[in-house]
Amino acid sequence: MNTNHVRAVKGGSSLQGTIKVPGDKSISHRSLIIGSIAEGETNIEGFLYSEDPLSTADCLRKLGVCIPEIKKDNSFTVKGLGLDGFKEPKEILNCGNSGTTMRLLMGLLAGQKSRNFILTGDRSLNERPMGRVSKPLRQMGGVIYGRESGTKAPISITGNKLKGCVIGTPVASAQVKSAILLAGLTASGTTSVIEPASSRDHTERMLKAFGADINIRGELGRNIVIKSGNNLTGQDILIPGDISSAAFWMIAASIVPESEIILENVGLNPTRTGILKVMDEMGCNYKILEKSTIAGEPIGSINIKYVSNLKPFKVEGDILPKLIDEIPILTVAACFCNGVSEIKDAKELRVKETDRLKVMARQLKKFGANILENEDGLIITGDSKFKSADVDSETDHRVSMSLAIAALLAKGSTNIKRSEASKVSYPNFWDDLKTLIN
Ligand code: S3P
Repeated sequence: MNTNHVRAVKGGSSLQGTIKVPGDKSISHRSLIIGSIAEGETNIEGFLYSEDPLSTADCLRKLGVCIPEIKKDNSFTVKGLGLDGFKEPKEILNCGNSGTTMRLLMGLLAGQKSRNFILTGDRSLNERPMGRVSKPLRQMGGVIYGRESGTKAPISITGNKLKGCVIGTPVASAQVKSAILLAGLTASGTTSVIEPASSRDHTERMLKAFGADINIRGELGRNIVIKSGNNLTGQDILIPGDISSAAFWMIAASIVPESEIILENVGLNPTRTGILKVMDEMGCNYKILEKSTIAGEPIGSINIKYVSNLKPFKVEGDILPKLIDEIPILTVAACFCNGVSEIKDAKELRVKETDRLKVMARQLKKFGANILENEDGLIITGDSKFKSADVDSETDHRVSMSLAIAALLAKGSTNIKRSEASKVSYPNFWDDLKTLIN
């Protein structure tokens, strides 16, 4: 995503209304990937029609999977090829800006014997760490090369017979865990992943629903064991809304005076709801209505109302993977809490689509925010009075949307450069903002 669109956002309005949150990005990727290696058809409803999941669809088509043209708000059917059915693509697989696409495909393709694959991405993705995936896959027998000793894309993979292993991941990353589990489907015997803390578990839930022999051992799902041998069977998948997209409105309603928003269709998987704990600590006023379960994932509607005098918060330790994508918007929230908030143990933010600690600190300071950047986090002194500013998403979708919410609290009109980075995960973001502004 390297466009240059400048968007103006005026401060001073409250937000009111109801938004149906777009489909979950992580589950959308997985629905395509797992549907592709299943036998038979997988029907997908609620898919996130945005750049990242569409990159996954594009790569899978190049691997011979029959995925029709995906249209916004339409359900569609993927015809799976089974566990060993990908063809050798004639073209390079372009993962765009999507780390999930590249890392999950690496795991998937490492075991596709005697076929060659090359994966690349945009400028941001090709600078992100891939060694965390190529290293464990090599331990399983994967033949993987790439720039800087296989730690950066472009990556080349020659599919090979893999062997099951016990792998401890040094970072709690769902992308790394998922790559290993997908490789485990075609590896001999049993593959076991031990994570330092629980990361999102959508892959485990979906693989189980498709018939994989996958089990969680130990406390809090930290040790995941997959046994090869079971074929997967196509399923009907209804994708819930993405709490990481809902987060912008959850925080906006909490910090913009006189706001009240209802968010429908929010995925409430407990490995993703860290932000609700932080909102409790802040003293936010929200209620979860109509809780239910769809396709093995808990969902609900959330009503959020503005409260004055929000309390500062501290984010550290095992909660990080449960709110990893919400740190940019939580940084904005901290600017409007009454006191000093701290985000610690967040080094992972430095290897996201941008270095989100640096970029959020740099951009929010332009509004007048008081932020101190540490090696592994941020210290934010709240109760800011924001002035309007010229800010820049620096090509990062979550930065773009976080800056839009920050701009609502600035006096005057703020210009956001490269604003449509938001299309990576939330194509309707600006329309939804317009709907909510009073
Ligand atoms: C994702 C996992 C997280 C998250 C990303 C999506 C996934 O990344 O930040 O937006 O779908 O598995 P890590 O696994 O690198 O933490």
